This record gives sequence, C-alpha cells and structure tokens, in this order.
Amino acid sequence: MALHRKAPHSHDIQTAARGAIDPIFARAGELAGAAKHELPAEGMRPDTAYQVVHDELMLDGNARLNLATFVTTWMEPQAQQLMAETFDKNMIDKDEYPRTADLEMRCVNMLARLWHSPDGEEATGTSTTGSSEAAMLGGMALKWRWRERMRKAGKPTDSPNMVMGINVQVCWEKFCRYWDIEMRLVPMEGDRFHLDAAEAVKQCDENTIGVIPVLGSTFDGSYEPVEEICAALDQLQADTGLDVPVHVDGASGAFVAPFLDPNVMWDFRLPRVQSINASGHKYGLVYPGVGWVVWRNPEALPEDLVFRVNYLGGEMPTFSLNFSRPGNQIVAQYYNFIRLGFDGYRRVQQAARDVATYVSAKVASMGPFQLITDGSELPVFAFALKPEITNYTVFDVSRMMREKGWLIPAYRFPANREDLAALRIVVKNGFTRDLADFLVDDLATSVEYLKRVEGSLPAEPGEGFHH
Ligand SMILES: Cc1ncc(COP(=O)(O)O)c(C=O)c1O
Repeated sequence: MALHRKAPHSHDIQTAARGAIDPIFARAGELAGAAKHELPAEGMRPDTAYQVVHDELMLDGNARLNLATFVTTWMEPQAQQLMAETFDKNMIDKDEYPRTADLEMRCVNMLARLWHSPDGEEATGTSTTGSSEAAMLGGMALKWRWRERMRKAGKPTDSPNMVMGINVQVCWEKFCRYWDIEMRLVPMEGDRFHLDAAEAVKQCDENTIGVIPVLGSTFDGSYEPVEEICAALDQLQADTGLDVPVHVDGASGAFVAPFLDPNVMWDFRLPRVQSINASGHKYGLVYPGVGWVVWRNPEALPEDLVFRVNYLGGEMPTFSLNFSRPGNQIVAQYYNFIRLGFDGYRRVQQAARDVATYVSAKVASMGPFQLITDGSELPVFAFALKPEITNYTVFDVSRMMREKGWLIPAYRFPANREDLAALRIVVKNGFTRDLADFLVDDLATSVEYLKRVEGSLPAEPGEGFHH
C-alpha cells in the first residue's frame, strides 16, 4: 500500500477559491438582512437580492391553494413565456406597439360577440386593469348620460343615485364615493342573498343613473336575475316614463355564463343592458391585472369621456383612468382566446363547476355544515355552520384550514343577515379533483378536532374578510 505525505499549503489557490465560492447565505446582503424602510446606501449582487426577496415570499400563502381569490393562479408555460417576452410593452403606446393595440381590439370584438352584441350595433370597449377600473368607466358613462338627460330636461343634477344589492363588490362603493353618487343598497332578507327585481325597482327614481346587477355575487357565487330586473325596469318605464339603464357587473360570470349557461339572459340580448364589465384575470384565465368593459353602442359612451392618442399616423380613441399599463396581459388574453376557443373555455369552466359541486356535496354531507350555494352558477360556493354548532365558529374552521395551507375566507354577511357567518370556496382552473379530495379530507379532520373543543376558542383581532 502506498504511503502519502502531507503536502504544503497552496495559499494563493485557497484565497482565490474563497472569492469564487462566496456561499450565498453568508454574503454581505444576507448576513445583515435587507433594508426595510430606507433606500440602502449600497446595493448587492443580483443573485443575492433575488434570494433575499424570493425567500421572504416563501412566507406568502401558496396561490394554488388560495381558494379565497377569484383571480387566476395558474397559466400554462407558453402563456407565461409570451407574458415574459412582452413585459416591456406599455399598453398606451398604441403607435409604438400597433400589434399589441390590435390584439386588444380583437379581444374587445370577441367579447362583444360572446356577449351577444346585436348585429347592426357598434359595440365599443376597452381593456382595463381589472373589473374595478372597468366598473368606474361603466359607472362614469352612466353618470354622464344621466346628467345630460337631466340638463336637457332643465332639472337639477346634484343628487345622482345608483341602485344595487348590498352584496356588491367594494369597487362599486368606491365608484359611488369617488364620483359623489348616492349608493342605494338593497339589503339581504331571509334567504334572499342578492338583488331582486322588485326591490331594485322600488329604489329607482329620476335621479337613478343606473341599476347594477351582478353575475355572480362575490358573497356566494349566485347569479342575480338580470333578465327579471330588466323586465321590471321595462315595466317601470311603461308605467312612469322613467328609463333606467343597466350595467351588468359580470366580473366573474361574464366568462362563465356564455360557456355554461347559454339560456341565461343577462347580456346585450337584453336591450336595457348598456354595458358589461368582466375580469380577464378571473374566469378569463389571465394572471392579474386585466379587465374589460364593453358598451352596447357609441351612444352608451359619451364622447367627452374619450381621449385620443397617436396611432399609426392618426388617432385612437381611449377611455381609461390610467395612462401607462402593462400590455402583456392583453397579449395573454388573446393567447387564451385563440388557444382555447369557445370549446376550450367551456371545458375549463365546466371542469371548475364539476369540482365545485362535487366539493359542496361533500361539505354538505359532512355533518356540521349547511350550504348557502352549491357552486352550480359561478364555480363558487358558500357554507355556514348549522345553528346547533356552538362550540366553534367558521372563523375557527378557516384558521385551522390555514394551518394546513388552505386559504378559505370566513366572513359575516351584510345587512340584514349579519347573523350569518360563512366560509367561501372559489374553484378555479387548476383546482383538480385530487386537490378537492385532499381539501375535503383536511376539512373533515379540522372539524373532527374542533368538535372536541370545549368552550370557545379565542377570536383573533381583525377577524373577517373584505370583498
Ligand atoms: C362581482 C365583482 N365585481 C368587481 C370585482 C372587482 O374586480 P377586480 O379585482 O378585477 O378589480 C370583483 C372582485 O372579486 C367581483 O367579484
């Protein structure tokens, strides 16, 4: 056997190697912790900065297990690649990026037709940052038109109001507050958890700029009866002459109903529907943030709300609250439209609805829960604890599920059903049948544990969920 001798130190090589090895978590940027509240005097290597930020974000919830959000949490790799290739496109630079502008125009056309814009009507629309901006634009058009009507009639224009169910998403509250409009909210009553025709009409008068039915409700995924509301408003016009327009908040439903519920009348087939908003980043299946708003015809969108930007040596009309906006979500929306087509969207939404109704049936049979909705409209359902369950709450269930990684919001319903506290599950593309089974198992285990709780668990500060 050979004998080996200890070799002399090779100092230079070791020193050089130390610089190259530079272990990532022992570097300056990692050792001191990242700056939190003041711009650091000096920066750090890009891979160190990446690691610092990446590691902090590990503590966020897992988006695929986020059953609270309506917003897309999975897109296919080709869409991600296209989005990464177009991060640098500013949507407002129509002249510089005419192809991106053209994709937006094509998406508006496809949506107008999907929502049954009648032949002969020149529907007009735009992309937005989401349904909130789309709602602002739709609401402004209603306000401008109402003001014009009142001015022409020589009537005061200082007290506009808007009629909607109390279940509307907070974007409508923002719209009314920012644009000085009285919000006429129809409360819930008994088992009615959203707006209905009779209550909507009762709230209308000559200062009503519009009625906002929601397809479907953020609270429980149910569709509001747009057709009945429009019919009741037709009757109101026949009886009193009041002509109250309708804007449909189709944030989620405008990408679900056309594919799964062709017989539900909620869109431009109803002449009273003047405009529709939808979130491309919800059931439109695009990562945040893109929304859409389409008006029935140019008359529904007052000309003085429109601004013009340069486009191919001419001008392109625009209507938006922002100037700069990412263009890549529009690219991704167009990708989805040509990638999936009508049938692809139908299959994706049907799969989501199937999983939603599957899980809701399991939840209903578990024992302690009662369903408020079952996921057969939006693939979303809400459920509460039966009244006899008094030793734990839906907030405890939500907390226990969070410990297992599931994000399921618990919240109290608004007036007049503040007595009702519920959990809500939003099923989206990518929430598979397997994941659904794991969820049901974890819910059953949580409930089994909570059953044994004596007395009540302490409530956490700020408990609740904001829609
Ligand atoms: C019915 C409804 N309208 C509007 C919005 C706001 O949409 P966005 O998040 O796209 O601004 C939501 C969001 O959940 C919603 O459910």
